[in-house]
Amino acid sequence: MKNFSFVNPVKIIFGKDTIQEIKGEIPSDNKVLVIYGGGSVKKNGVYSQVMDALSGYEVHEFSGIEPNPHYETCMKVVDVIKEKGIDYLLAVGGGSVIDATKFIAAAVYFEGGDPWDILSKGAEIKKALPFGTILTLPATGSEMNDGSVISRVSIQEKLSFGSPLVYPKFSVLDPTTTFTLSPRQVGNGVIDTFVHVTEQYLTHYEGDSTLQDRMFEGVLKTIVAEGPKALKRPTDYDVRANLMWASTWALNGWFGKGIPQDWTTHMIGHELTAFYGLDHARTLAIILPGVIRVTWEGKFEKIRSLGYEVFDVNKIDQEVTIGETIDAIEDFFISMGAKTHLSDYGLGDEAINKVYKRMEERQWKLGESGNITPNIVREILILRK
Ligand code: NZQ
Ligand code: ZN
Repeated sequence: MKNFSFVNPVKIIFGKDTIQEIKGEIPSDNKVLVIYGGGSVKKNGVYSQVMDALSGYEVHEFSGIEPNPHYETCMKVVDVIKEKGIDYLLAVGGGSVIDATKFIAAAVYFEGGDPWDILSKGAEIKKALPFGTILTLPATGSEMNDGSVISRVSIQEKLSFGSPLVYPKFSVLDPTTTFTLSPRQVGNGVIDTFVHVTEQYLTHYEGDSTLQDRMFEGVLKTIVAEGPKALKRPTDYDVRANLMWASTWALNGWFGKGIPQDWTTHMIGHELTAFYGLDHARTLAIILPGVIRVTWEGKFEKIRSLGYEVFDVNKIDQEVTIGETIDAIEDFFISMGAKTHLSDYGLGDEAINKVYKRMEERQWKLGESGNITPNIVREILILRK
């Protein structure tokens, strides 16, 4: 196991009827800006619970954060914060609203140029506004990590940044807020969680990270069991609670410590979203089977463990094991409502060339060993036509 030093400072407030507890978390004299998306929180009653909880505060609001949040919209929120003298942000929604809030919190204090530099050049963040989150879509882990992904539509870019300064101060995880998710978003959340695990678990590593491995297998077993139940019984509290807690743990940083991490599937997927607007999880469902197929050498033991532990694949032959494990993963994604080929979205050679060219321009070498060249990315995409 590699050395590590880590603290995750996010306070989690988990369970039914917990939104009211935010009152104790935000200083009473703070001006609060509530940030949310396209209106799901108004339809399912989360918005009114938040407003009730904030009675007594000076509250402002900004709605209209898009899925795959836009830099352009975030900068409008920065203007509102400066104009109103906001002290505290409250993100109410899924990963997009939370990611946008992280970027906004940092952009408000960014000095010396365009805050886009935080994403495009890794410019240093020295200060950020404090914020809390109320999660309504279990998927990204953003509620308990320090990462954020922002899109700039005018140049078709989707880039990420991370900083310990953008950990939420607290996150409320009330599983009842997820009862209203559409089947598409339930499926997306489960698939995203699945791939967050594989990016950290299916790595070229022969070491002794047995605790991390068993934890990650626990997350996968949980979501493979509970995901289909959430589609059948949307208001089953325990199913929703298990999914919510599992997706948080897939990417809150802890299980990924001491081990190498891959992220090839995500980096290719982000380009497909940037160019063609596909949902984040849907890009992952296309790409992951190709990544496993092309990069299995050196990580066969991990693929075997995943196949055996999660999908009961129990074969001796190496090739059969890899094939059956990939098929089981793909079948699971399909059962959660995703399509798994580029052609399902009308994409083909043109899309492959666009992503390849971008990888070439950036000279990116992906994967835990930095050996996934643009040519290998193209090979992966060709397999997923
Ligand atoms: O905008 P509203 O009206 O709220 O509707 C949203 C949105 O249309 C809807 N929704 C959310 N909660 C709901 C609901 N509808 C009904 N009932 C509810 N309870 O769902 C739609 C999608 O929401 P979004 O926030 O975009 O989804 P998700 O949580 O999957 O976030 C995706 C974004 O997170 C990034 C992705 O790249 C993408 O931009 N990621 C962030 C990560 C991180 N910060 O660590 C890691 C991930 O790998 C990922 O890249
Ligand atoms: Zn993801």
